[in-house]
Amino acid sequence: MSYNIAVIGGDGTGPEVIAEGLKVLNVVASKFNIKLDFHHYDFGGERYMKTGKIISKEEIEELRKYDAIYLGAIGHPDVKPGILEKGLLLRIRFDLDQYINLRPVKLYPGVESPIRDKTPEDIDFVVIRENTGGIYTGHGGATREGTQDEIASQIMIYDRRTVDRCLKYAFELKKKRNKENSKYAEKPLHLVHKRNVLTYCGDLWYRAFEEMGGKSYSDIKRDYAHVDASTMWFVKNPEWFDVLVTENLFGDIITDLGAMIQGGMGIAAGGNINPEGVSMFEPIGGSAPKYAGKHMINPLAAIEAGRMMLEVLGEEKAAKSIQKAVTETCLKLKSLSAGKMGYTTEEVGDLVAKAIG
Ligand code: IPM
Ligand code: MN
Repeated sequence: MSYNIAVIGGDGTGPEVIAEGLKVLNVVASKFNIKLDFHHYDFGGERYMKTGKIISKEEIEELRKYDAIYLGAIGHPDVKPGILEKGLLLRIRFDLDQYINLRPVKLYPGVESPIRDKTPEDIDFVVIRENTGGIYTGHGGATREGTQDEIASQIMIYDRRTVDRCLKYAFELKKKRNKENSKYAEKPLHLVHKRNVLTYCGDLWYRAFEEMGGKSYSDIKRDYAHVDASTMWFVKNPEWFDVLVTENLFGDIITDLGAMIQGGMGIAAGGNINPEGVSMFEPIGGSAPKYAGKHMINPLAAIEAGRMMLEVLGEEKAAKSIQKAVTETCLKLKSLSAGKMGYTTEEVGDLVAKAIG
């Protein structure tokens, strides 16, 4: 098969880690007879500082024509927080309707988790974060700004359709995992929310979850967890989880915790998925400007994002071969943290590429 991929290296260490990701993707493509055509875009902080442009309507339309988007990182120390995040990252997620944010939390063998006594057997789950709604919708405002009477609001908004399409993706993924592995099938699909306080949004999610589960997925076990309690269990009993589904902001928060228990930002990747359209894959660690140009950053998260991209494109064998190579590479690194790997960024890319053979 042949695919056109838009590549956005972005800011900070983004381009460096993406270069290693492309190295690995090229090796795996030739091994499995896949044709990958990469088209580079210079969206990000540097371009914004030079031209004042973030991304135009036409450029968004252009992105729609690709089979997938491969993103490094967005965020520049000289640009006010929010401008690039909203103007570029969230803009692409929203305009391309990438309504699922898929974040695997998997501890690879040889990787040290900060949670003592937990093994790869225990930490192996997936968080499905709703990716277009909730507080991220941007509904709200401020009045009497700058005075002692200032009022600000930022509203969590969900409609049934947005909730249902996310839940459907979650149930379908759970069904797939249950078939793959009986260990997964014993565990429930967890809905994570805060319905003891967010009685409107929480109730909407809970009822939709119970209804869909009862009607169409009665053979899948269901459970509910409050978001605060779930952070506790991520640390104490991560083995309880297989697939979790949650709203946007809660998902944002718990997946950073998830990234830590799987060994840190050096390995954590995510997919912004539109199951009917164009999806975008990224390491979730951000642009880490202090490491830029130092050959210290870990490219495994970007390589993992590339693996997820192939998996979603349907190239499962190629994706599995990257996973195997990443597993082997993890066993060789001293640590997954930037500057402590025992190898440079480029050398880690080479290790993975070589392991694919
Ligand atoms: C993430 C990031 C983004 C988010 C920011 C950069 C807008 O934290 O992808 O998790 O909040 O979604
Ligand atoms: Mn985040």
